[in-house]
Amino acid sequence: MTTQHNLDALFPTLAEIPEPYRPGAPIEQRDYLVNGQLVRWDGPLASVRSPVFLATEQGDQQVLLGSTPLLDADAALAALDAAVAAYDHGQGAWPTLRVAERIQHVEAFLVRMREQRTAVVKLLMWEIGKNLKDSEKEFDRTCDYIVDTIEALKELDRRSSRFELEQGTLGQIRRVPLGVALCMGPFNYPLNETFTTLIPALIMGNTVVFKPAKFGVLLIRPLLEAFRDSFPAGVINIIYGRGRDTVSALMASGKVDVFAFIGTNKGASDLKKLHPRPHRLRAALGLDAKNPGIVLPQVDLDNAVSEAITGALSFNGQRCTALKILFVHEDVLQPFLDKFCAKLAQLKPGMPWDAGVALTPLPEPGKVDFLNGLLADAVEKGARVINPGGGAHRESFFYPALLSPVTPQMRLYHEEQFGPLIPVVPYREVEEVIDYVLHSDFGQQLSLFGNDSAQIGRLVDAFANQVGRININAQCQRGPDNFPFNGRKNSAEGTLSVHDALRTFSIRTLVATKFQADNKALISEIIRNRESSFLTTDYIF
Ligand code: G3H
Repeated sequence: MTTQHNLDALFPTLAEIPEPYRPGAPIEQRDYLVNGQLVRWDGPLASVRSPVFLATEQGDQQVLLGSTPLLDADAALAALDAAVAAYDHGQGAWPTLRVAERIQHVEAFLVRMREQRTAVVKLLMWEIGKNLKDSEKEFDRTCDYIVDTIEALKELDRRSSRFELEQGTLGQIRRVPLGVALCMGPFNYPLNETFTTLIPALIMGNTVVFKPAKFGVLLIRPLLEAFRDSFPAGVINIIYGRGRDTVSALMASGKVDVFAFIGTNKGASDLKKLHPRPHRLRAALGLDAKNPGIVLPQVDLDNAVSEAITGALSFNGQRCTALKILFVHEDVLQPFLDKFCAKLAQLKPGMPWDAGVALTPLPEPGKVDFLNGLLADAVEKGARVINPGGGAHRESFFYPALLSPVTPQMRLYHEEQFGPLIPVVPYREVEEVIDYVLHSDFGQQLSLFGNDSAQIGRLVDAFANQVGRININAQCQRGPDNFPFNGRKNSAEGTLSVHDALRTFSIRTLVATKFQADNKALISEIIRNRESSFLTTDYIF
C-alpha cells in the first residue's frame, strides 16, 4: 500500500465517529407514498447497507442502515393507478390548476424540504459515501434548482400570457402537461439528479411515480411527509423495490407518458421496449459516458493536472460527467504523470465526515472486484500502475490507480469504469484521439487542455458534432444548471437544464381563432370574466 495512507486504519471504531454523524439504530422503513397516504407495506424488505465499515474486535463490520419495502408489481401498479387517476385524462385538479397555484405547492414543499437538510445530508454520507462537503452541496444545489425552476416557469408563463397575431389568426400558446411521468434517478446523485426531473415534471402539471435510486434510498424517507402534505392526493407517488418487479410492470402497462431515467443505456432500452405504445412515450434519459480529457503538447500542465484530478476523481470517479480516459501527448507525458501522482498523493482517504476527505468507500457491492478486473486486464496487456499504492483496496474502498500506457486492446479503453481508475493513453498524432471520439459509442462531453489557439480551434470544430459539451482547460461537468446538459449516441436522450426540463415535461397547445370582431369579443369576454385557466392574460410576478 501507499506510504502516504494506511488502509489498515481506514475504517473507524464507532467511538471515533463524531457524535452528530454516528449512525442511529437501523431504520426499518415500511411506508411508501400512494394517493396522498403513507401506506404500510407488510411484505419483504430490502436491507440497506452502508459502504462504510466499522473497525471492531471481530474485524471490519459493514454498517446496516436499515431496510426499505420490496414492493411487488401489484403495489407498484396501484401507485401508477393513483397517478393516472390524479391526472384524470388531463381533467384532474393538478393538471388544470393555474400555474401560479402549482408554484405555491412547490414552494410549500421546498420550505418543508429545507427542514430536512441535516437528516438528508447525513444519509447521503452513510448510504453512498459522499463526503460531507459534497453531500451538503448536493442538497443545496437541489434547493437552488427548485428556486430556479420556479423562476424559469414564471418567465415562461409571462411569455405565454400574451396573444399572438399571425396572418389573420389570433393565438395563445401555452405549455401544458403530458400525463403521468415515471422518474428514476441514479445512485451517485440520488437527490439532485432525481429532483431535476421530478420537480419540473410536477410543476408542469404532470402526475408522478417516483422510484428512488438503487442506493441513496433511505434519504428520501425524511421527505415523504413533505411530499404528502404539499401536493394533492395522487400527484406524487413514491415506490420502492427492485426495478424488474416494479418498473417493468409500470412500463408494460402502457400508462406511463414520460419516462425520466438516469442510468445505463441498456437499462433504459430494456424498459422502453416494454412500453406497448412507444410513440406515446416521451423519454428524458441521462446514460453512460466515457468522457475523454485531451492533453495537447502546448499546455498549462499544472492546470491540466489539477482539472484532470478533480474531473477523474470527484466522488471517486462516480459521476456520469467524470473524465474517464486521458489522452496525453507524448511530449508532456512524463511531467503530466509525475505531477498527477504528486497531486493524487495529496488526496485524503477516509470517511465521508472527515475534514478534507476526498476518497471514500464505494456503495456498489462487487465494485472493488469489478475495478480489480479492469486493472488486472490493463496490466496484463502492458499498462503499469504509475502511482504508489494505486489499486490497493480494503472492503468497499479502492485507492485510485493511474494506469499508463492504456491501449485499445484493454477493457479500460472502452468500458466505463465509473470509479477511481484513471487510464492514460499516450498519443503522438491528434488524429488518433479524433478517431477515438468519432468511433466511441458515447458522446456526452470532453475536455481539451492546451493553449495553441489554432489547434484548439480546429479540435473544437472536429468535436462539435460529436459531444454535447466541449470544455476548454476545464473538467467536464453538468453545471451551471442553466446550461444545456445532454449527450449523443448512447449517452443521453433529450436535453436537460432548468429551462429545457420545463419543455421536456410539457407540450405546447395553441388556441387559435380568426381575427375578426365576433371572435375578438368572445375571447375578450372569456378573459374579462376569468372563464378559462388557459385563455388568460394573468401575469405572474
Ligand atoms: O452523474 C452525472 C451528473 O449529472 C454530473 O453532474 O457534473 O455536476 O457532477 P456534475
